[in-house]
Amino acid sequence: MNPKPARESFTTTTIEVLPNDTNTLNTLFGGRLIEWMDITAGISAQRHTGLVVVTAAINHVSFDIPIRLADIVTIEAMVTRTFRTSVETHVEAWVENRKTGERKRCNEAYFTFVAVDDSGRPLEILPVVAETQVEKKRYDGALRRRQLSLILAGRMKPEDAAELKALFEKD
Ligand SMILES: CC(C)(COP(=O)(O)OP(=O)(O)OC[C@H]1O[C@@H](n2cnc3c(N)ncnc32)[C@H](O)[C@@H]1OP(=O)(O)O)[C@@H](O)C(=O)NCCC(=O)NCCS
Repeated sequence: MNPKPARESFTTTTIEVLPNDTNTLNTLFGGRLIEWMDITAGISAQRHTGLVVVTAAINHVSFDIPIRLADIVTIEAMVTRTFRTSVETHVEAWVENRKTGERKRCNEAYFTFVAVDDSGRPLEILPVVAETQVEKKRYDGALRRRQLSLILAGRMKPEDAAELKALFEKD
């Protein structure tokens, strides 16, 4: 299978925060933001693989600043690395104040998807090429994030995660 540049999977969504998306403080529900991030990242993974994907894991979503009613939210997603049947995507959310136009990054996360057939069985996917410095850094980190995710899911023994362990070991 021919590799594809990561940039071809770039996907962006822009949404206005409406009353149905907010809590009693008039700030956005965390779950709603994760839903928008999941959809955007899923489209990015489908653009790369050309296949149907399902969410396998969501790693480290941080809620850094509140997003308010009528703010404009932009979500950007791009594939970082593929493995045999799974693909990791990096997702960032930006919030824009409609009055001042000020734009701040408010969230970042990594979503892992698995390509599946009509019966939900995993399918092999094509590799990705990281071209820029940022893409290469995320590509390198993806293996450690995958190991951590698999350990937390009870799918890998910590002692088998050589690259992750190396982070904590002294020379
Ligand atoms: C994800 C799913 C297809 C994996 O199926 P499975 O039978 O366990 O298949 P495998 O064990 O071969 O795993 C498939 C891939 O998923 C990866 N994977 C599974 N769980 C993972 C996790 N928590 N973190 C990272 N990768 C994970 C495996 O490492 C493997 O990747 P690889 O082939 O690239 O090495 C299956 O668990 C599933 O259908 N889950 C439900 C998905 C869903 O409904 N999502 C929406 C949530 S509401």
